[in-house]
Amino acid sequence: MRGVPEKSFSILIVDDEMVIRDVLEDFLSSEGFDVVSVSSGHEALEELDEEPYDALLSDLMMPGMTGLQLIEEVKKRGHQVVPIIMTGYGTIETAVHAMKIGAYDYILKPFKMEEVLQVLNRSFERQQLQRENIDLKHTVNIYRISETIASTKNVSEILKEILNASLEETGADYVRLQTYEEFAVPDLCMERLAENGECGPFELNMEPLCEALGSQGSLLLRGEETAPFVQQDSPSLHSSLIATPLRISNVTLGIIVALSLSKRTRFSEGHRKFLSILATKAAASLENFRLIDKLKEANRELTEANRAIQENFRQTILGFARAIEQNDPYTRGHSDRVAKYSRLIAKTMGLGEPFVEDITFAGQLHDIGKIGISPQKLNKAGKLNAPEIRMFRRHPEMGKRILEPISFMRHLIPGVYCHHEKYDGTGYPQGLKREEIPLMGRIIAVADTYDAMTSDRSYRKALSEDVAVEELRRNSGTQFDPQVVTAFLDALTKRNTV
Ligand SMILES: [Fe+2]
Repeated sequence: MRGVPEKSFSILIVDDEMVIRDVLEDFLSSEGFDVVSVSSGHEALEELDEEPYDALLSDLMMPGMTGLQLIEEVKKRGHQVVPIIMTGYGTIETAVHAMKIGAYDYILKPFKMEEVLQVLNRSFERQQLQRENIDLKHTVNIYRISETIASTKNVSEILKEILNASLEETGADYVRLQTYEEFAVPDLCMERLAENGECGPFELNMEPLCEALGSQGSLLLRGEETAPFVQQDSPSLHSSLIATPLRISNVTLGIIVALSLSKRTRFSEGHRKFLSILATKAAASLENFRLIDKLKEANRELTEANRAIQENFRQTILGFARAIEQNDPYTRGHSDRVAKYSRLIAKTMGLGEPFVEDITFAGQLHDIGKIGISPQKLNKAGKLNAPEIRMFRRHPEMGKRILEPISFMRHLIPGVYCHHEKYDGTGYPQGLKREEIPLMGRIIAVADTYDAMTSDRSYRKALSEDVAVEELRRNSGTQFDPQVVTAFLDALTKRNTV
């Protein structure tokens, strides 16, 4: 026995002798093949245009069109059938010529049925190999498309790639990819007509097509079956159509449709499978896009909520800082003025906008550590005694402790903790020197001292601006960073001359 492969192979017999046709048809049908026989090359071509066959068993000498001419035409039309020549006039030359133009093998008449079976079996093995090669080619192409998808972040680019691959790999005349309106991504409809497509004007009836697809995996329609879904001037028996959903987790996001109106391409099961895999890729891309979009939106909302919380917190902390000054007529507004001077210095020094904003807020909070010191002690008219001085000097440390647990204010601590450090290392709480003192601390120190000098205090009247400026100049390089003093004095001069 021939060891027929699992699939039933189809054979088209072409011979002008009825006896030969009948004998072969009976025998091969009894062997389990699907057999059709015709009497001329022209009839064979018509049959091949309508149905795909695995093998073409053709007589050599026939009226109208010879077996060799038939093979040439079959090759020209691109039919994937394995041609085998039968001849009663067998010479080596004829056989060689038949093989040269594309015949797979030849059989000499009169033939024994076993010989015919042997040749056919070999041809089917070859056909199988060809199919596997096509499958492999599709697999390689799917791999290539997957690579492209993985390296592309734009969903439109991904879908365009899938659309192009659908057109090129199936040999379709037209492909269309459409997402459904209710889907969260912008409604998308992309289509491409093959550059050398010979199809005339037509229109797809998308609504009935989507309805017909329903919850099915995909549709492969041929000939008349395509009529309800394709409007065209002259209904073609050669039309074939594949519709496959873009579906993920039972949710249908859209549809891919491939259409062929010409004899050249008649969609097969392989094409349907290929498009289904591409559709799965497209659906996954759309779903990723949708999830990323959702994530971005959630992130935006979270950032917004976080910003609102931070702003609330800022205002609360600021409220505490101002409350410390409220009961003291001498220091009321001090922190706001220190913030204003610090901002002026930072801007004059050409520091960036984020630093300018930070130091403004740090200036407002620089004495927040005084929250634990009683107002009476703070406003004492006379000199502070030693324990009072010790307590007062703890306010930078207290300010640091207040801000430490607040992650989005932690970067302000250098301004709060170091505004009583002195450039020559004689300040507190750490006795840092020169650039060891964070810039925020060096700037606030100048702003703080200047405002203290130019404001009334319980123990003295406010100094004039000139005296205060002179004092800053005198202590530049010892108590204060000279660069900071220079920047501040420049800013004051500019302000006074405007
Ligand atoms: Fe202070």
